[in-house]
Amino acid sequence: MKIHGRHYRAIWVNADGWSIEVIDQTKLPFAFETRRLSSVEDAAEAIKTMVVRGAPLIGATAAYGLCLALRQDASDEALEAAYRQLHATRPTAINLKWALDEMCAAVRNRARPERAAAAYTRAAQLCDEDVATNEAIGRHGLKLIEEIAARKKNERVNILTHCNAGWLACVDWGTALAPVYMAHDKGIKLHVWADETRPRNQGGSLTAYELGAHGVPHAVIADNAGGHLMQHGKVDMCIVGTDRTTANGDVANKIGTYLKALAAHDNNVPFYVALPSSTIDWTIKDGLREIPIEERSAREITHVMGRASDGKVMTVELTAPGSPAANPAFDVTPARLVSGLVTERGVCNATHEGLLKLFPERAA
Ligand code: MRU
Repeated sequence: MKIHGRHYRAIWVNADGWSIEVIDQTKLPFAFETRRLSSVEDAAEAIKTMVVRGAPLIGATAAYGLCLALRQDASDEALEAAYRQLHATRPTAINLKWALDEMCAAVRNRARPERAAAAYTRAAQLCDEDVATNEAIGRHGLKLIEEIAARKKNERVNILTHCNAGWLACVDWGTALAPVYMAHDKGIKLHVWADETRPRNQGGSLTAYELGAHGVPHAVIADNAGGHLMQHGKVDMCIVGTDRTTANGDVANKIGTYLKALAAHDNNVPFYVALPSSTIDWTIKDGLREIPIEERSAREITHVMGRASDGKVMTVELTAPGSPAANPAFDVTPARLVSGLVTERGVCNATHEGLLKLFPERAA
């Protein structure tokens, strides 16, 4: 995607051939800054503090984190320690484990002197695959938007999204936003309602930033506005991403997604979830009981970052001083509330059977 006329991915290898550069998402939307990662500790810290975030990008950063670790020490012990360190950073997104497992499979049986190079090669492949996967998700999701546009006789299509499932959450394109970009580029009239997404405001700061940079018409709305807009016919479809999808089609996504799905169900608004298959956890079937939900710091609720009128970016307290706060970071939307899963292989019902039709190799 382009920022200030230059094409960026959300993560890349620097010209030195080994250190990793990422866009510092904690600085957006007020400053576009990149950050260099030169050790596994840097990578783990970037994931934990959400310098990088979004399930696919967490996976890509962890993959390069293993490369950085192996560059220092290619022993089995170092590999295991780096795996454990990176895996412990964020518990909900299954892409993290998926990417780490892919990396281990690529290096484990190699001689130590070859491991770092093999790791860099595999991490680059994972990133390229992520781009291709999201482009395919975009093509399949585009058809859904085209159908609505045709039904509305080319009147504006209103799409609601939650959190940020755009290119900043991935290597490029995004999952939920890939179809939006493709539809916009094709000349389909559309407008995006971007949920602000408290507490960290990924919608207001990241989704709005991306959409604005690409020229996609949008408006940021308070998290509680979606139900009202749906009741008044102002939402034609919802599309969100997911951090973990069960084999039965339950989806864990940013806190507040479930409430949007409930409102969509009550108002007959289609609710789609876009995902790369690396987000499917085939080992579990009951999202509510089996998906670990990350609890983040209460400070994310009690404090908020913003820009003052003098241009200074600062963090201010928001709640009654001393009030405790709770911060579950994800919720689970049961499959029955999901109209369809948009994957790189096509759109399917949010059921085990639906997923197996697209991924028959998983039947065993
Ligand atoms: O806490 P975050 O910002 O990492 O949460 C991100 C989301 O919930 C996204 O919707 C999800 O990772 C899908 S990204 C393509």
